[in-house]
Amino acid sequence: MKLTIIGTGYVGLVTGTCFAEVGHQVICVDKDTAKVKLLQARGMPIYEPGLEELVQRNVAAGRLSFTNSTAEGVVKSDIIFIAVPTPPQPDGSVDLSFMEGVSREIAQNMTGYKIVVDKSTVPVKTGDKVAETIKRYCKARVDFDVVSNPEFLREGFAVDDFMKPDRVVIGVRSPRPVQAMKQAYEPFQAPVIVTDINSAELIKHAANSFLALKISYINAISVICEATGANVNEVANGIGLDTRIGRRFLDAGLGFGGSCFPKDLSAFIKISEQLGYDFRLLKEVQRINAEQMDRFIKKIEETLWVLKDKNIGVLGLAFKQNTDDVRLSPAIELCERLQREGAQLRVHDPRAMSKAKAILRDVTYVDDMNDVAQGCDALVIATEWPEFKKLDLERVRKELTHPIMFDGRNLFDPQEMETLGFIYKSIGR
Ligand code: UDX
Repeated sequence: MKLTIIGTGYVGLVTGTCFAEVGHQVICVDKDTAKVKLLQARGMPIYEPGLEELVQRNVAAGRLSFTNSTAEGVVKSDIIFIAVPTPPQPDGSVDLSFMEGVSREIAQNMTGYKIVVDKSTVPVKTGDKVAETIKRYCKARVDFDVVSNPEFLREGFAVDDFMKPDRVVIGVRSPRPVQAMKQAYEPFQAPVIVTDINSAELIKHAANSFLALKISYINAISVICEATGANVNEVANGIGLDTRIGRRFLDAGLGFGGSCFPKDLSAFIKISEQLGYDFRLLKEVQRINAEQMDRFIKKIEETLWVLKDKNIGVLGLAFKQNTDDVRLSPAIELCERLQREGAQLRVHDPRAMSKAKAILRDVTYVDDMNDVAQGCDALVIATEWPEFKKLDLERVRKELTHPIMFDGRNLFDPQEMETLGFIYKSIGR
């Protein structure tokens, strides 16, 4: 099939590339000329495991191409996916100006029937607005259908999540586009849920809010564990084996961050408010998340007493493992708060250092994770990178002026750390 993806961010680029990988003819459109040039020259604007190889292969096979021209994308394809940013506004609501702009451009370039698919995360009822806009601006008066097809891709695992989805959600206003949408996703052999467009849009916000709620739930449990000497990992294992609950997204830590959960929660709370419902449960999820960071900083202060002029090593800057994304990263927030208290920081991240340099200044960036502890009063783990588990702990203990480690992601075993001579403080254990 001929598919166009408008927007080559994390979602658009992964979507386009994976569709090409299963045999579709894909055009990726982006307004950013520099990005298009980079992609045309086989460069990558983001780090996402496995993506670069797939891009190379599909460009070489002639199934994947990049352009600045929305008109080209609209004219040449049958299905147009919109994957543009929907950033948060100061009041928590979503800025839909990119969605509106792209809808207009699609409308102005349509010469025959098109299926316009919204992949960006949007408030419920956005599909109706997109349809109205296209109708208003389409001078050619051709037929079209608007579909909501939310993405559930985790950064760092996005290719895998796209290739092996748990489900594909197709929200429609009429039965006409269903067959083509099913055909586009047929190679992925996943359960397909066909629903009305409002339900599809709600599924996305409801799913992300529920996952954030799960994380805040286990973080709240971690507080009770600390107060009672229980172990949050064991509690998570014990409840997670109940198939009704599930073990995933029950890792206590510094809380959730990134470009999705915080934004989607605020948006969902705002949408609910506009619909007349005060979603206090989700406000509490936000509050628990913020408190988790406060509590961790307090733990550091209680141990080190004064942070002014203390040297602290920080491992991890990305908002989670397997990504170079530092947007709303709890690790960056932690660094900034330690800096505000007067601490000097030595930091390392396996992938996110170059992106971090643009926002985190006056720190020493260290290339080797085993060198970070040099001359530090304490070492902090801020991101759950699996490679940190391979830290040379003997060496780290010797390099630290005091063998103190604060583990915000529960990567090490408390007993083993004590045996190795560390003063080790983690979350809920
Ligand atoms: C999320 C959703 O998972 C995905 O389906 C959606 O489409 C986009 O938003 P993403 O933001 O890439 O994906 O990351 P995710 O893996 O969900 O992690 C989000 C945050 O939660 C990270 O900061 C991570 O460290 C934190 N987290 C995750 C926990 O603190 N504990 C956990 O058990 C899991």
